[in-house]
Amino acid sequence: MSFVITTPLYYVNDKPHLGSIYTTLICDSIARYKRLSGEKVIFITGVDEHGLKIQRTAIIKGTDPQTHCDEVSNLFIQNWKDWDITYDKFIRTSSNKHEAIVNDFYCRVKKSDDIYMGVQKGWYCVGCEEFKDNQDNSPTRKCPIHQKTLEWKNEENLFFRLSKYQSQIEDLIDDPSFIQPKERRNEIINFVSKGLKDFSISRTNVSWGISVPDIPNHTFYVWFDALLGYVSAISNDMNNISLNESINNGWPADIHFIGKDILRFHAVYWPAMLLSAGMKVPKKVFGHGFLTREGQKMGKSLGNVLDPNQLISKYGKEAVRWYLLKDISLGSDGDFQNKRFVDIINNDLANTIGNLLNRTSSMSRKWFDNRVPNDEKLSNDNSLELYSNEAIKNYKKYFNSYELDLASKVILDYAINTNLYLNERQPWILIKDEINIPIVSNIIYNVLESTRIIGLLLLPILPNLSSKIDNQLGSLYDNKNSWYQQLSWGLLQPNSILPKPKPIIEKLEYE
Ligand code: MSP
Repeated sequence: MSFVITTPLYYVNDKPHLGSIYTTLICDSIARYKRLSGEKVIFITGVDEHGLKIQRTAIIKGTDPQTHCDEVSNLFIQNWKDWDITYDKFIRTSSNKHEAIVNDFYCRVKKSDDIYMGVQKGWYCVGCEEFKDNQDNSPTRKCPIHQKTLEWKNEENLFFRLSKYQSQIEDLIDDPSFIQPKERRNEIINFVSKGLKDFSISRTNVSWGISVPDIPNHTFYVWFDALLGYVSAISNDMNNISLNESINNGWPADIHFIGKDILRFHAVYWPAMLLSAGMKVPKKVFGHGFLTREGQKMGKSLGNVLDPNQLISKYGKEAVRWYLLKDISLGSDGDFQNKRFVDIINNDLANTIGNLLNRTSSMSRKWFDNRVPNDEKLSNDNSLELYSNEAIKNYKKYFNSYELDLASKVILDYAINTNLYLNERQPWILIKDEINIPIVSNIIYNVLESTRIIGLLLLPILPNLSSKIDNQLGSLYDNKNSWYQQLSWGLLQPNSILPKPKPIIEKLEYE
């Protein structure tokens, strides 16, 4: 059994921005945590390449859609590499294997008698690739997300019988663990309670899409196509591409991570489509908040995005990872502010964690011949050990409930508490009298041991910073023992050599 986790499949109308990096970092961190905890993981990400939005982008660029998609998809792949994203599967919806899965799926849904021809009339947002209800009395008819004027559509489309699944969807969302966080669940409960309407799943004016097998001039609606990317991603066998193969490889997903704007598609339309095809529904859908700038959603269409590559070269990826994962509660929106960003990195990583490690290592080197001191069990002072065990327990609890901000805060609090421990005991005064050497050894050992565990706890969140901490302590990570086992107190070897300390992260300057 594998733990299957997915990012959304990103539109390739433009290169990735910080909003797309955000969700992907969250999933990366969770995937790393699960692997470290001994689980098998399938981490799926990829790109959504079809539809009117992409077709138009290619036309404006003066290129054909496939060339455009190849270029932008490569940018996503490169970005994921730059950010150390440890995905297992990267799916492109313009791939042949994906097309085969969409066709297989369509046949199943048709067999369930859930497809019929009808007429679709309404106001459409090309940015969302979605019809917007209740526009008749709106004077502006603009999409609140993209701020673009909606377009009127009136055409013959295939429809999916969503209404048939009303009670099954009600039962599904009744389970509080299906949609997280709970405010988002209430939105969906409210939406479903108004009665589900059938939705159109084909288009006649969009050539850049997968052709509906038996109906000339119809291509599949981009969402009907894209959602299946989660399934086609896990098909391995190129000679035997089928839904059954994907099902055997690990479907259903354990969790879909998505932004709150596309929750309806994932928590209502998608499960109904799967039920129609006789497939299992995902176990959980997590609708996170938006990254904003000046309070407005950061987005390609709005042109207020932060360029991830610039952020890497200016601040380094560990700094950005920490800010996004620790400072923003997953369910809420998070505003990106330069001053706050610099303050958080300097306080949390450079001062609290970095200085703790460097000053303790320096003291140890000076007083104990460049080594870790002996762990003299002279005193009854096991307060750091007890604190550590409690912190690890809380950290696991928060990671398992996807509260990454709280898991990160556990690590920071652990470092704050360890600084306090050191400052209260003042080994630099005790060391002046030789009689205190055993007590000082014990204090320094406890603090170094805490930094080792802090480094390990940082591994799924800040992998590079974590290995820098490990290097400062003499490269202790070992492959023989599991990460869990390495979290046990007392594994730092007394008398082992401590390398010369250097800052694990540079302090940032205000702009
Ligand atoms: N292609 C669809 C998803 C199909 S999934 C089968 C799509 N793509 S998108 O590129 O427009 O958005 C992808 C994800 O990025 C969405 O979850 C969206 O919420 C998220 N974000 C886009 N801008 C964002 C922010 N400013 N902040 C956080 N997430 C943001 O929708």
